[in-house]
Amino acid sequence: SPESRVVVAVDGTSGSGKSSTCRGVAARLGLRYLDTGAQFRAMTWWMLREGVDIHDAEAVAACAGKPAIESGTDPNGPTIEVDGVDVSVAIRSDEVTRSVSPVSTVPEVRTRLLELQREIIADGGIVVEGRDIGSVVWPQAEVKLYLTADVEARARRRAAEEGGTDVSATHQVLLDRDRIDSGRATAPLVMADGAVHIDTTPYSLEEVIEQVVGLVRVAT
Ligand code: DC
Repeated sequence: SPESRVVVAVDGTSGSGKSSTCRGVAARLGLRYLDTGAQFRAMTWWMLREGVDIHDAEAVAACAGKPAIESGTDPNGPTIEVDGVDVSVAIRSDEVTRSVSPVSTVPEVRTRLLELQREIIADGGIVVEGRDIGSVVWPQAEVKLYLTADVEARARRRAAEEGGTDVSATHQVLLDRDRIDSGRATAPLVMADGAVHIDTTPYSLEEVIEQVVGLVRVAT
């Protein structure tokens, strides 16, 4: 069926509920799931481990081809491996989170990951989340979404997830990341042509999943 081959491209700001929404939609529709942010985090984790100066764009570019990055696409248990090591937990550390934006601005990093992303997406039947999926990685996606949420709602969710960390500090970290992600020269966060914008602020996760499942059914 066309639904089983569909590509759903989901872009948006950090903390908009993208990951939970994408996993929920993929699980509901029997599709695969690709978290491209996890690939950028895996690349960053490897650079930090190798002692690469992540603020030296030439040094980052020179070794962007080295790590073998393998994404598992089960929405109920996505995994990511670097050189055969499962880094699903390690890539969520504060150090990686702080370092991932500068690494992801380097064109050689983006080109390398773009190749991996297109290989995985090629067979279809997948929900893909990131910042540039509908604009750069897979502009021909049958369904394109752009998810956002008010920064207050995002900071509250993120602080709750992280177990009562300071909401105003979280607020600032999110704004800083949005600024870097939106302002970079290569593949900035933009709303892709033909994307449907959903502001998730007033909705529960289940409500957003329901809306997206509806959009996929209409498109296929
Ligand atoms: O979605 P996330 O927070 O795990 O993403 C981590 C970082 O990776 C984010 O700061 C921007 C970058 N990223 C990107 O540049 N392009 C993508 N397609 C996905 C993520």
